[in-house]
Amino acid sequence: MITYKKSILAALALLASASAAAAGPITVYKTPWCGCCHAWAEAVEKAGYQVTSVDLEDLTQVRKQAGVPADMEGCHVAAVDGYFLEGHVPLEAIGRLLSERPDVAGLAVPGMPQGSLGMGSGPVDNYEVYAVPREQSETPSVFYKVGGRG
Ligand code: CU
Ligand code: CU
Repeated sequence: MITYKKSILAALALLASASAAAAGPITVYKTPWCGCCHAWAEAVEKAGYQVTSVDLEDLTQVRKQAGVPADMEGCHVAAVDGYFLEGHVPLEAIGRLLSERPDVAGLAVPGMPQGSLGMGSGPVDNYEVYAVPREQSETPSVFYKVGGRG
């Protein structure tokens, strides 16, 4: 069972890095004192994306422009190919976003789930990655599920 899970993870990682080559650069907007934001940016860069980090003391303006709903906020927000990535979005979800190119504003992982990308190597929380519609009046939907404890 463990081997099976691992090979799926390896395949997903391959998919993610394959689409990394085709994806545009990723700009990460974060506060200067955020360590897990830096860890996320580093992990994304390691996966093959071209990453630029921009330190800002206040991310409100960036989030507003990108269309991140207040209840979807994580700790940093990134931009890639016209999409936003809010919070600790995992590589698999980024890869799927950039290969499927759905008509959405971006992806969001609200809060800071334990064990998510950039949040340490401990036990992984169950958490959802939401696809956020361009239309602010529409409700975000689950785009990708991480079931670390399942
Ligand atoms: Cu964080
Ligand atoms: Cu962060």
